[in-house]
Amino acid sequence: MGISDKTKKLAGSSKFIVKMKGMWPFVKPIFPKVVLGLLLTIPVGMLDALIALFLKPYMDNVMVAKESSNFIYVPFVIVGFTIVQGVFNFLAVYVNGWTANKITLNIKRVLFEKLLSLSPAFFDKTTSGSVFFRFSKDAETASNGLINNVKTIVTRVFSIVSLVAVLLYNSWQLTIISIFVLGCAFLPLYFVKKRMKMVFEKSVSVESDLVTVYNEAFAGNKTITSYNLQNLKMENFDGLLGKSFNLKMALLKNTSWLSPVMHIISSFGVAGVVFFGTYLVINDTITSGNFVSFLAALIMLYTPVKSIGQQFVSIQGSFMAMDRMFKMLDLKPSVRDAEDRTPVELKGFNKEIIFDKVSFGYDNFKIVLKEISFTVKKGETVALVGNSGGGKTTLINLLMRLYNLKSGNIIIDGHKLWQLSLKSLREQIAIVFQDNFLFSGTIRENIMLGNPNAGEEELSRAVDMACLGEVVAGFERGLDTVIGERGIILSGGQKQRVAVARAILKNAPIVILDEATSALDNKSEKELQKAFDNLMKDKTIFVIAHRLSTVQHADKILVLDNGKIVEIGTHDELLATENGVYKQLYQIQFKA
Ligand SMILES: Nc1ncnc2c1ncn2[C@@H]1O[C@H](COP(=O)(O)OP(=O)(O)OP(=O)(O)O)[C@@H](O)[C@H]1O
Ligand SMILES: [Mg+2]
Repeated sequence: MGISDKTKKLAGSSKFIVKMKGMWPFVKPIFPKVVLGLLLTIPVGMLDALIALFLKPYMDNVMVAKESSNFIYVPFVIVGFTIVQGVFNFLAVYVNGWTANKITLNIKRVLFEKLLSLSPAFFDKTTSGSVFFRFSKDAETASNGLINNVKTIVTRVFSIVSLVAVLLYNSWQLTIISIFVLGCAFLPLYFVKKRMKMVFEKSVSVESDLVTVYNEAFAGNKTITSYNLQNLKMENFDGLLGKSFNLKMALLKNTSWLSPVMHIISSFGVAGVVFFGTYLVINDTITSGNFVSFLAALIMLYTPVKSIGQQFVSIQGSFMAMDRMFKMLDLKPSVRDAEDRTPVELKGFNKEIIFDKVSFGYDNFKIVLKEISFTVKKGETVALVGNSGGGKTTLINLLMRLYNLKSGNIIIDGHKLWQLSLKSLREQIAIVFQDNFLFSGTIRENIMLGNPNAGEEELSRAVDMACLGEVVAGFERGLDTVIGERGIILSGGQKQRVAVARAILKNAPIVILDEATSALDNKSEKELQKAFDNLMKDKTIFVIAHRLSTVQHADKILVLDNGKIVEIGTHDELLATENGVYKQLYQIQFKA
């Protein structure tokens, strides 16, 4: 073996150690059971060798010497051995299955925790399919692979060591031949490793695309039906299936020759042993018992070698899954609490929010907000109006610190936003999103998310204020009506009111309403407006609306145009501005 080969091998093994270190936190809590599982696999591996060893005295004493008195016990020994091996096998499978599942579970927990901690910027760039793959499938592949592989390796090592001992006991000459050939049988593995890695990586990306297609077929079923997109989606899907098929075949092509080739190389060993062994027996160098026992041990030894080609593929697969998993675990949410200082806990909201030259873009190419500056005092209602895509929702995203600012500062009660603990910041804000998400479950459960500790009285108050009373009364099971995934059985306006009730129940000092009444009819909107006015007397409110009637009474109206504030003032002030943007918007809406 050349020097470069040696270093390569070292590098390979150190990577193995890095992987084992990475897996350690998940193994640690159940380490004793893992050890027990591995200990149980030792006898399973060694019993093969005992059977082979036993063949020598059997051959020499019973078959060759024909001492019939000795063979009475033989059937009992065979059955006895098999029973012992069977019991150990069962225990090993059970205990190792338990540890593998437990480790998978531990990894999934930690990965899901990580997933929940990630910022919107991560989800903007990731598909649902790859989230499923990276955070669930990989965990299974990695941990099952770990346990199965370690188990296999332990069994094999003990089986190999004890079988080699049997070989040596019977004939050292034949052992040399066998081990040499065995070594050659492993050579092909070096050639396929790299190619396999490439194929594996491509497969993961195709498989996660497939999951995304399924998710879209589910979530987008109405659009698909209404626009007759079935054929298009089918083509899409067929394309991915074709790719997945080709990759599977590429993997097979690259690996399926391994086992047969290893098998063939092994057969050279067996052939050599039979040829040379016969010679040794004839010469009386070894007994025929030695020869048979040797052959049995050798064949047992080559069995794992034959199967190891297949195993190698699964080992590589699980190692790659581990690598991807570690990468996910290493992800740091782009928005997180300050690490070099203790985050400030925001307790309530008392004075003011200052936007100081805030600039922001979702990527480096496009600025969405440019030098936004304004101040909101506690108890004020601020309205954000302006063109679609102008940056209103973005501004709110920044206030919630869903994204980090590019430059400038947002200051709440004297604290810069990034100095605040994220949890305490978000506790002070109740938001109704432009596109609200309702969870599968009941109306009650969805509203209670605003404040899981709320009592029945608070709940029904929130329901009334959100003008949901009538809606709820219309359902046979009232608040306990199951609304389906994403609230599918509710109308757009009903969903919006559930979201409003959730926000009301949260009872936070800062309230954000992003087009919170856009799906309501004029009458319901007026009612809701009244409820807001009552409820929100002491609250600080950000309201975004295209319908200007909703924002007329705001203390301050900000007009955003393509990411810049172009006007600030009250409704009356803005209407008095000659050629003002707000005035023009108003005139268009109220021309009728
Ligand atoms: N997650 C995102 N990633 C990248 N770009 C985004 C993202 N969200 C919004 N944008 C872009 O930012 C700009 C401002 O969007 P924003 O949602 O803030 O507009 P808006 O004023 O709320 O519009 P509307 O009145 O239609 O709701 C748009 O050009 C939009 O394409
Ligand atoms: Mg918006």
